[in-house]
Amino acid sequence: MKVTIHDVARGGSGVARLESGEIVFVPYTAPGDEATIKITEKNKNYSQGELVELLTPSPSRTEPLCPAFQKCGGCAWQHLPYSQQFEIKKNGVLHALKRAGIDASNIAIDELPAASPYFYRNRIQLRGNPKEQTLGFYERNSTRIIAIEDCKIARKELNNALPQIREEGSKKDSEYKVELEVLPNGEIRAAWNMKHAAFGFRQVNDEQNLELQKWVQNQVETGEHLLDLFGGAGNLSLGLISKFKKIDCVDIGSPKERPSDLPPHFQFHRSATASWLEKAPTSRAKFTQVILDPPREGLGSDFLKIESNLNKKFNPERIVLVGCDPDSFARDAFRFTQKGYHLVKLGVLDLFPQTPHVESLAVLKRTTLR
Ligand SMILES: C[S@@+](CC[C@H](N)C(=O)[O-])C[C@H]1O[C@@H](n2cnc3c(N)ncnc32)[C@H](O)[C@@H]1O
Repeated sequence: MKVTIHDVARGGSGVARLESGEIVFVPYTAPGDEATIKITEKNKNYSQGELVELLTPSPSRTEPLCPAFQKCGGCAWQHLPYSQQFEIKKNGVLHALKRAGIDASNIAIDELPAASPYFYRNRIQLRGNPKEQTLGFYERNSTRIIAIEDCKIARKELNNALPQIREEGSKKDSEYKVELEVLPNGEIRAAWNMKHAAFGFRQVNDEQNLELQKWVQNQVETGEHLLDLFGGAGNLSLGLISKFKKIDCVDIGSPKERPSDLPPHFQFHRSATASWLEKAPTSRAKFTQVILDPPREGLGSDFLKIESNLNKKFNPERIVLVGCDPDSFARDAFRFTQKGYHLVKLGVLDLFPQTPHVESLAVLKRTTLR
């Protein structure tokens, strides 16, 4: 059927409204496109569609850099100008907050779009088939490998390593997965058939990660004690070492080996956040600052345990909340507002240009101190 796309959903697809009032999500379309689409899946409140033919392209479209765009499952938005991508992300965070019950219309928002919308990823996960000599990424919604010569969102150092990886992969017996990472010293590390981020979590966009570190560190006020919860390898707290008497960085995947140059007042705890807080003794420190940066699911069913132990034992006045999924971030922020915190600042930071992913940032301040 013929449709006009009028919006882009924060999940990434263009949105069309049929004459019947029904909403259809169509990947790889832009607001203003006139297109022929086919319905591929019908649900109660919306349908899923596929682009069949672009009849009149939207004037706002831009030329995708990658020849594999629309085939490779990696990027959803190379046809949208970067400024429009960022606007959709920002509105998506506000929409998620509204749906969760937070009106953020009067809250200051720090906007942190990426300076480099291409060639930014320091880590990519490739699939290879030795028989067909292919190396690339999975096709969208499939496990078919789309061969890639040059990934336009990967760092150039990773692209330069692809011929050698393809060569090594051709000696494997069966289909393989390889995760390539460029380390800060420029060295390339390859993890063959290992689980995702096998060498430990590291943000994939170094340039934007610096912006994330700066933003978080600017929001954290001075105090005696800092808790960096879901802190990984201390990405958000290592820069605050000189500002605190004590820093506890808690993560199930904390580094196994402590860097030799770390001062003793910075401690890693390899533990789940909820159980670490459950066992933690009541702190006597004044003004404990808290950074919370949970995985996609947010604090989930651990919220009450985490919030009540934080409150009881550390009495924090401010919490800096970082979320990589706007819905779980908004749910957690709302639950904090139900526990006496209010939102004093928001941030929207883009670590993943060309994709709908967005980092949501908030500062929560306790109104009622116990
Ligand atoms: C979004 S990452 C943030 C890491 C770190 N703040 C950074 O910027 O690199 C989420 C982290 O949560 C950790 N994690 C997942 N579930 C956890 C849990 N139940 N308790 C503690 N850490 C957890 C993961 O190992 C991962 O390092």
